[in-house]
Amino acid sequence: MTERCRILIVYYSRTGTTRRVAELLASELDADIEPIRERAGPGSRDGARGYVRSVIDALCHRRAAVMPALLDVAAYDLVVVGAPVWAGGACAPVRAWLESNGGQIRHLALFCCEGARGSGTALKQMSEAAGKTPLAACVISGSDLYRRRDADKRDAFAQKIRQRMAARRETEWLV
Ligand SMILES: Cc1cc2nc3c(=O)[nH]c(=O)nc-3n(C[C@H](O)[C@H](O)[C@H](O)COP(=O)(O)O)c2cc1C
Repeated sequence: MTERCRILIVYYSRTGTTRRVAELLASELDADIEPIRERAGPGSRDGARGYVRSVIDALCHRRAAVMPALLDVAAYDLVVVGAPVWAGGACAPVRAWLESNGGQIRHLALFCCEGARGSGTALKQMSEAAGKTPLAACVISGSDLYRRRDADKRDAFAQKIRQRMAARRETEWLV
């Protein structure tokens, strides 16, 4: 009997879109899930002030202070990381989390939620922060949500992850 592939989904979400995608993916992939939590500090990300702070953090590549992961990242075969696009790049809390935890990730997959643009740079920044190339990536845009294309994109992403992990496991068995 083959052992079940252990998958962890980690995400940051300011307004709930990335969280929703992460939760649906977790149920589709039978994965554990953990939100990235920021340390309590002087500034929040709520309201107009929080929005501006988030834009500045993203543009200036300021390192956000994030809490250590609660689950043991190294115990998973695959970690899927999800982030909203901020100011044409990856949101600051996800970059910080990947910089801290990327070394413990065996296999990585990435997804982004964007209004309309910036996901290409965001995915590149996430991959660089982790120090790993993702085996699959997915972008959900505002127009995907509006036109109800998000479920198809999520399904295709989940299927690609399953296929690529199965192929990697076969290779790992052979060596
Ligand atoms: C600070 C900030 C900057 C943003 N910058 C962009 C951007 O450059 N490009 C874009 O398409 N969407 C941008 N957005 C929109 C979000 O990426 C999009 O609404 C996403 O779905 C939000 O995810 P969340 O609800 O999980 O926080 C920005 C949102 C915020 C809060």
